Amino acid sequence: MAKVLIIGAVGQIGSDLTVALRKKHGADNVVASTRKTEFPLEIKDGGPCEYFDVQDKDATMKVMKKYGIDMVYQLASLLSATGEKNPDLAFQINLLGLKNSLDAARECGVKRFFWPSSIAAFGPTTPRERTPQRTVLEPSTMYGVTKVAGELLCQYYFNKYGLDIRSVRYPGLISWKAEPGGGTTDYSVAIYYDAIKHGSYKCFVGPQTVLPMMYMPDAIRGTVELMDAPSEKLTVRTSYNLAAISFSAKELADEVARHIAGFTCTYEPDSRQKIADSWPKSIDDSQARKDWNWKHEYDLSKMSVDMIANLKVKLGKK
Ligand code: SER
Repeated sequence: MAKVLIIGAVGQIGSDLTVALRKKHGADNVVASTRKTEFPLEIKDGGPCEYFDVQDKDATMKVMKKYGIDMVYQLASLLSATGEKNPDLAFQINLLGLKNSLDAARECGVKRFFWPSSIAAFGPTTPRERTPQRTVLEPSTMYGVTKVAGELLCQYYFNKYGLDIRSVRYPGLISWKAEPGGGTTDYSVAIYYDAIKHGSYKCFVGPQTVLPMMYMPDAIRGTVELMDAPSEKLTVRTSYNLAAISFSAKELADEVARHIAGFTCTYEPDSRQKIADSWPKSIDDSQARKDWNWKHEYDLSKMSVDMIANLKVKLGKK
């Protein structure tokens, strides 16, 4: 049975992934870690938990050795908008943190390693429609810079040291369990919260803004499927393009209005608009579909039904 460590377990992805991996591998075999001070109860009561900072390689190695970890999901990251407020910290956590954990993993004999890249690896010079797997990578944010460098670092460690690292470029992720923090695609989550709580939402990108998005259950299943795929099937060792749905902010607002009577959306673009405009509108993920049979399940409507039902319970608005 694999012994799994999730670094950054209380972030947007980790909160869902930790629960899924504990079901898959057995609760005692999945260690959740964070540098923050609190675990949500579901994670705290669900299995082993550790506090350490990904910038601290010794602390990372101590936990890997304590549990005999052989599989790592390294999710610790500052997102794009927060990264623009504090580029130095984004560099430290996103890139040096990745290098620390790759080195720790190598020294502790970890067999398989997952690290998330993002559509933020692309930039204004990248083709924006059906963005290919191999294309121009000239991001305009520090977050994107760390993603491009991180992808190359992962490929380097695979080629040089044989560490079996797997990665995807996630689109904007939409989920109800944990809110994202400081991302450019956060409006696609916040709109559901505000629709349920207040019946209205002020969107920080304009109505015509189109970005690639994905519902979290698809992202979690895809991640686990990639980690389960036979190594010889994988032809990309930087990071796989991964896609599900693309829609404009207005199409999203119209969909929310179909479920929540009287919902209204206004638009007041801020500095995040420029970041959104530098990212692709849609992604060609045919390599992932070919190599490890990636397939999304949720479209905008199916996602909205599930999202709203779960959020109503969470927010006590049933
Ligand atoms: N969702 C992230 C962000 O908006 C992109 O990976 O920063």
